[in-house]
Amino acid sequence: MDNRLPMIAGNWKMYKTCSEAVESARQLATLAGDAENVEIMIAPPFTALTGVFDVVRHTSIRLGAQNLHWEPEGAYTGEISGTMLFSAGCRYVIIGHSERRQYFGETDDSVNRKILAALAAGLSPVICVGESESEREAEKTFSILDKQMQNGLEGLSLNQMDSAVIAYEPVWAIGTGKTATPQQAQEVHEYLRKFLVGRFGEETAQKTRILYGGSVKPENISELMGLPDIDGALVGGASLQPETFSKIIKYKN
Ligand code: PGA
Repeated sequence: MDNRLPMIAGNWKMYKTCSEAVESARQLATLAGDAENVEIMIAPPFTALTGVFDVVRHTSIRLGAQNLHWEPEGAYTGEISGTMLFSAGCRYVIIGHSERRQYFGETDDSVNRKILAALAAGLSPVICVGESESEREAEKTFSILDKQMQNGLEGLSLNQMDSAVIAYEPVWAIGTGKTATPQQAQEVHEYLRKFLVGRFGEETAQKTRILYGGSVKPENISELMGLPDIDGALVGGASLQPETFSKIIKYKN
């Protein structure tokens, strides 16, 4: 992974009021703003985006959102578009997180539409894929991932794929304290990279960052980052505390 800049991303989910988010971002900028050779991204709730952007705009921390709608604007009560996110300072957007697939009916098709909308708005999509526990037990991990990748990335050009990031998050490891073993994670990351080679060619596949997500913490980040096809982490619970999250960001120290 020598030619890929590692990325450590924090998904704050539905946590933190505006003032809590701004305070966390301030602390994070102090604790981790000097981290080198790593890209830091935080995805606060929508309501805190502009406040957090004011804190991080002159730092190396990038702002991301957790979801978007696929239309640029329109009569879609309660939705937020990619254009709006870009104007709020976002440069990334998480798409297809398993919680959205599980609780909000997201499908590979809506994920695909959202990816294309994000790219059209100038945002880099962080595209989440991953199998459930029962799918893994039924040995369907790779067929599920194939389907999510094939359908999710439908119609993407090589150029568009260049700004996308993939996040492999086994659903059974999210918020459960269970991490995939380094071997399990590497096996899947290698598989995903091979998929990218087949779909987009060697050069793009080698450039694309594939993050791991699911109970990442300061104790397991170094081992995960030591694996050849793991290029970063998408962190939920452990990203909420700036001190803990900065330890993950500074995994090399
Ligand atoms: P977790 O969440 O780190 O709390 O397991 C990861 C995620 O949902 O992105």
